[in-house]
Amino acid sequence: MRIRGCIFDLDGVIVDTAKYHYLAWKRLSDQLGIIFTEEDNERLKGVSRMDSLDIILEIGKCKLSDTQKHEYATLKNNWYVDYISRMTPDDILPGCVEFINELRKAGLLIAIGSASKNTPLILRRIGIGNMFDAVADGNIVKKAKPDPEVFIKAADLLGVEPERCVVFEDAIAGVQAAINAGMFCIGVGSPEILTKASYVISGLHEMNLKKLKSIEKKNLL
Ligand code: G6P
Ligand code: MG
Repeated sequence: MRIRGCIFDLDGVIVDTAKYHYLAWKRLSDQLGIIFTEEDNERLKGVSRMDSLDIILEIGKCKLSDTQKHEYATLKNNWYVDYISRMTPDDILPGCVEFINELRKAGLLIAIGSASKNTPLILRRIGIGNMFDAVADGNIVKKAKPDPEVFIKAADLLGVEPERCVVFEDAIAGVQAAINAGMFCIGVGSPEILTKASYVISGLHEMNLKKLKSIEKKNLL
């Protein structure tokens, strides 16, 4: 196999935190008098916290100073942290642990590549931090997806060349970031949305090493 490193996005791939982000952003939007729908929430997937706030403010045609923006982003994050602090290993999405264990047994290196600054807290809550050889998250990168920084950083930490990494991503911005990093990308979600991914699965429960090998063969040879 040419692939040596497997990089997983966290939100939407390993855990379903979009619902908690939505509840916290919705609470903030209500407070600001902005109508924010679950459909709007789709636009925030993979997008950094401050960029997400900018999108919401744009929807509500609302202008705030940088200081106010930071205050509101902190408020939203406190509510979000309240939700994720109650997560348990039961919140790990189906098939994730089995697939990662299979990859590890095969000697592949595993990393997280997430925009979230709450990555350490989520990994602690769901108890699978020790399955990852490296964690690249919103605390160590400056540029948000679709910039490739987070995935390049993950590959770097693994000591694997980008072209020998595969990324698992649920967000359009994340798929683009993987492509920008020169990596092969498997989309997690719907093929109608993740059109640029090399292959799309509905969840990690659909994935195993044999399938990864055959997808790699079809795409890389
Ligand atoms: C992930 C989520 C986004 C979220 C971002 C930052 O990429 O998909 O919806 O805005 O992380 O998360 P944070 O926990 O740092 O606010
Ligand atoms: Mg995601």
